[in-house]
Amino acid sequence: MPGRARRLLLLGLAALLAAGTFLAASTSASATATTCPTTIAPVTNEQIDRVFALAAKKFQPLAQRTRKRFPFGAAQNSTAMDTTNLRGWTSGFFPASTWLIYQNTNNPRWLDLARAWTKAVLPVASWTGTHDLGFMVGLPAALGVELDPSAKLRTDYRKAMLTASESLSSRWNAKVGAFKSGEYDGQWGLIMDSAMNAPLLITRGQQLGGSRGAQLEQRGTQHLLTLARTFIRPDGSTYHRLAFDTSTGALTGPVPGQGADPDSAWARGQSWAIYGFAQGAALTGDQTLLAAAQTTADYWLSKVPNGCIPAWDLDIDTPGALHDSSASAIAANGLLLLATLTTDQAKAEAYRTAALTSLGTLASEEWTPTTSPNPGLLQKQTYNVPKYDYEGSYSWGDTYLLQALRTARPLIS
Ligand code: GLY
Repeated sequence: MPGRARRLLLLGLAALLAAGTFLAASTSASATATTCPTTIAPVTNEQIDRVFALAAKKFQPLAQRTRKRFPFGAAQNSTAMDTTNLRGWTSGFFPASTWLIYQNTNNPRWLDLARAWTKAVLPVASWTGTHDLGFMVGLPAALGVELDPSAKLRTDYRKAMLTASESLSSRWNAKVGAFKSGEYDGQWGLIMDSAMNAPLLITRGQQLGGSRGAQLEQRGTQHLLTLARTFIRPDGSTYHRLAFDTSTGALTGPVPGQGADPDSAWARGQSWAIYGFAQGAALTGDQTLLAAAQTTADYWLSKVPNGCIPAWDLDIDTPGALHDSSASAIAANGLLLLATLTTDQAKAEAYRTAALTSLGTLASEEWTPTTSPNPGLLQKQTYNVPKYDYEGSYSWGDTYLLQALRTARPLIS
């Protein structure tokens, strides 16, 4: 048996043993392990109201804590929220969630909290040691620009977005045509997740204008085009991490990441691809990026039936495998955006239906339970199963669930 197949089989067996039993799960015809509700239906306004009320209730005590530490997540059976410092890649998600709750409640207390948490995270914008500034600064600052009534504070948020764009741009490598994600197995590497950080450069570059703005926009766009050229396999699935030779810019090959295998399709990586490419296409109108978003979305749809939630890796076909509900929440954002860009109406409808039905599942008691002692919102997420083989709630899944629900609301009203 080839190494990859053997590794996937072993991981599947380990998941089965950990689960102890077969879940009441269904498996799609294309053999990704998925968990499906008995009734598959688009999300409703009542569900959206319930999830936002639950988020406000759960996050209120967290929002009162010191803003030197940022909520990260909690393992399934934990009642304590783990935190990260300012430089953790997740530091921007809780601030972003406070903006989304403020918008939903229109309560000035949440405006104060959103401002305070955003102020706490913005200083990281000048740090050039990470590629994740789109998550850390771009996301909460863009929500602040959209929702803060204060013109002065909106200017501060835009300044921080520019600083973060310049920091990210300092990691540019002209030979590869991308900014560095990290060092993987001692090699210069790119990660699929970085598709979510590139749109910050495009947005800010377009707002700034002039030659500096044009360079930021060009680099953000080129980064996404390089990802589209190198990360998407012929079947539409994506690699998680790739290494490059910086003397020539040539791809040297896949390296282990958060998926089951360097050659498998890590579920969250696939969802980062859909949403990142869709944002790039929306911002630039680039047809290659639109095709990349559609190809990666079509692969997702071929593996995840409407209303169902996948295992953490789309190549795992063992019922009972650990889930990644955050991948579904992220994919829902990407599919809703992609539906607005796709001219083929049947295809656009398929993307919208997939997103709204998966949100119907995520907003149900099974995935966002009202009474769970776990301090997070969206349950059955996974972070990095090869290292941490358990489910939990995590700040990114919570934020992207709230964001997808706010996008969904006008579509179902
Ligand atoms: N960017 C890391 C992750 O998605 O887990």
